[in-house]
Amino acid sequence: MKNLDILVCTSAGVEAVTKRELFKLGINDCPATDGRLAFKGDLQDLCECNVNLRTADRVLIKIAEFSAETFDELFDGVFAINWRDWLSVDQRVVVSAKSVKSKLFALSSLQSLGKKAIVEKLKKSYRVGVIDENGSETKIEISLKNDLATVCIDASGDGLHKRGYRDLVGAAPLKETLAAAMIMLSVWNPDRPFVDLFCGSGTLPIEAAMIGLNVAPNANRNFAMQNFKFFDNAVLEQTLQKARDSVVERPLKIFGFDIDQNAISLSLRHAKRAGVQEYIHFQRQDFKDFSSKSKYGVIVSNPPYGERLMTEKEVRFLYKDLRTKFESLDSWSMGVLTSYYNFEKSFGKKADKNRKFFNSNLECHYYQYLGPRPPKQEKVEN
Ligand SMILES: C[S@@+](CC[C@H](N)C(=O)[O-])C[C@H]1O[C@@H](n2cnc3c(N)ncnc32)[C@H](O)[C@@H]1O
Repeated sequence: MKNLDILVCTSAGVEAVTKRELFKLGINDCPATDGRLAFKGDLQDLCECNVNLRTADRVLIKIAEFSAETFDELFDGVFAINWRDWLSVDQRVVVSAKSVKSKLFALSSLQSLGKKAIVEKLKKSYRVGVIDENGSETKIEISLKNDLATVCIDASGDGLHKRGYRDLVGAAPLKETLAAAMIMLSVWNPDRPFVDLFCGSGTLPIEAAMIGLNVAPNANRNFAMQNFKFFDNAVLEQTLQKARDSVVERPLKIFGFDIDQNAISLSLRHAKRAGVQEYIHFQRQDFKDFSSKSKYGVIVSNPPYGERLMTEKEVRFLYKDLRTKFESLDSWSMGVLTSYYNFEKSFGKKADKNRKFFNSNLECHYYQYLGPRPPKQEKVEN
């Protein structure tokens, strides 16, 4: 029975790609509000979303919605939820709060009042004097908008960008979900060469390899839903088996370069952990030395921004040199993510497409320069 109100959270600029991913999972009716795609689903849908979505941040279940203009109304609304259906007696509950255009706006009061209401209800329904909270953690979100309170339970746990392969932090790494979105928005497909000239910890080439091989991004991690009382491990196992059966064995031409040897070592480590090391060629190289005889390649990169790495003057020269490099690559396309406000001027060309994203709260733009399309492959007759 499809009786769960599932919300898939995604980032600004990425909604359309996440929606496309949901369509592929057979979820066609999922209107977006405030960066959340909503639909009715069941445990299987929760498992499918957590395991397979590449660009979503997390999956929530909406468990109540009520009007709350006073603290009493908020307490009563949260207390009225049948928490015993969701939480075991020892579960540790962490409450977060948000408020937009509402009479109740003190977030710490909303959090502590919400938590108190949940604990009091659990005590009453389990007939215990104390909730010792020695069990697993469950995140509850209370959000108020125009005095309407929405209470959600987190089904993902760690954000879905935490695939598990990136255990060491490189310089200014890109969120895995954003890397996947950049690739899915590019013109790349697995028949074309893929190059990241500034690969850092390897995120873009690794995500490209996982997309090319149709490897589910979150098949090797745990989810908060596994602590739900109604969770059934057989459903998750089924989803994981389906994901393993969908992996496509194919040759890929994926390359990651970086001027820093430590970055290359890190990329190799992460690719190995992701199980895609044999599909990517990583090499220490200044981007100015890159050349290729291949046609219709696609570069997807996030070079230094001039925020954490390099000065503004240095990145201006780097972007100018990047243009020279791009011009030398006949028939290639390129997508560049940067927070540098004057990128197009330094690069010397207006992008064919331009999209706003946030990488760790930093406003960035994804500039895409489109080369010609490869000719359609003629069908080989047997
Ligand atoms: C913003 S970081 C890339 C982060 C990467 N996308 C990740 O997820 O880890 C930029 C990278 O550019 C590299 N870099 C700087 N100058 C370079 C150059 N001239 N050629 C190649 N790589 C360079 C830095 O070493 C750094 O790893």
